[in-house]
Amino acid sequence: MLELKNISFGVENEDSTKEIIKDVSFIVPDEKFVVITGPNGGGKSTLARLIMGIEKPSSGHIYLDGQDITGLGITERARLGISFALQQPVRFKGIHVVDLLRLASGNPKLSVGDACEYLSAVGLCARDYINREVNASLSGGEMKRIEIATVLARGTTLSVFDEPEAGIDLWSFQSLIQVFENMQKRSHASILIISHQERILEIADSILLIAEGRVRGQGSKEEMLPELMKSTVPVTCNRILEGGVNNAD
Ligand SMILES: Nc1ncnc2c1ncn2[C@@H]1O[C@H](COP(=O)(O)OP(=O)(O)OP(=O)(O)O)[C@@H](O)[C@H]1O
Ligand SMILES: [Mg+2]
Repeated sequence: MLELKNISFGVENEDSTKEIIKDVSFIVPDEKFVVITGPNGGGKSTLARLIMGIEKPSSGHIYLDGQDITGLGITERARLGISFALQQPVRFKGIHVVDLLRLASGNPKLSVGDACEYLSAVGLCARDYINREVNASLSGGEMKRIEIATVLARGTTLSVFDEPEAGIDLWSFQSLIQVFENMQKRSHASILIISHQERILEIADSILLIAEGRVRGQGSKEEMLPELMKSTVPVTCNRILEGGVNNAD
C-alpha cells in the first residue's frame, strides 16, 4: 500500500515560492487500480515525480507498506518495488530493446522469447522491435509502449503510469486497456495511472481528482464519473484578477 500524507511541494521563483502541491493525502491500497485525473497543470506529474523520488516534498510523508520512504532516493524506491512509466519516456542511445527489458526485469538472462511476450502485450510486433536501439528513431507511441513493456517486465509492487495513452493510436488503445486489466488480474500489485481518458477512468477501482495542486475529489468510479463528465474547470489568470486588466501588461 502506498500512502501520501499531507504532501506539499513548491519551487523557488526569483523572489517567492510557487506552491505546486498543497497538502495532498491519499492511499493506493494493495491490489487496487487508482486513477488520478484533473486539468492540465494541476500537479499530477509532479505527484508522480514525488512518489518516484525525483522530487522531495517540502512537508509531509510518503509510506510504502508502512515504511517511511520520504527520504529515500529513486534507486532505493525502485528496489522496494515501485516502477514508473513517465509522461515523456527517456531514450537510451546505444541500448537495444531486449537489453532494456533484461535490465528492467532484473534478469540478464531473460530469454528473447520472454522479452517478446512483454512487447506483444503492449501491441508491438516483437520480431520488429526486439533488436531496435532505444533512440530517436522510435516514434513517440512506440517509445511509450516500450516503456510500458519495461514496467510489465519489472513486475513490481506498485506501478505508476503517467498518461500511458499519450501518443497511442485509437486502434491500439483497446489493447492497452486490456494490458492494464490483465496486469491487475495477474499480479497482486497496485496500479496508479494518471490519465485523462474516460476508458481508463472506467476500469479504475477509485478515482482521485487533482486540480490546482489539491485533492478536489476522491471516490469510486460510480461516484466520480458522473461529476467529472459534467464539470468544467474555470480558467483564470490571477495577475489579471488581482491587478485589473489594465495593470496586467
Ligand atoms: N520546476 C518547476 N518550476 C516552475 N513550475 C513548475 C515546475 N514544475 C512544475 N511546475 C508547474 O506546476 C504545475 C503542475 O505541473 P504538472 O506537470 O505536475 O501538471 P500535470 O497535472 O501533470 O499537467 P498535464 O495534465 O498537462 O500533464 C504546472 O503549472 C507547471 O508549470
Ligand atoms: Mg502531467
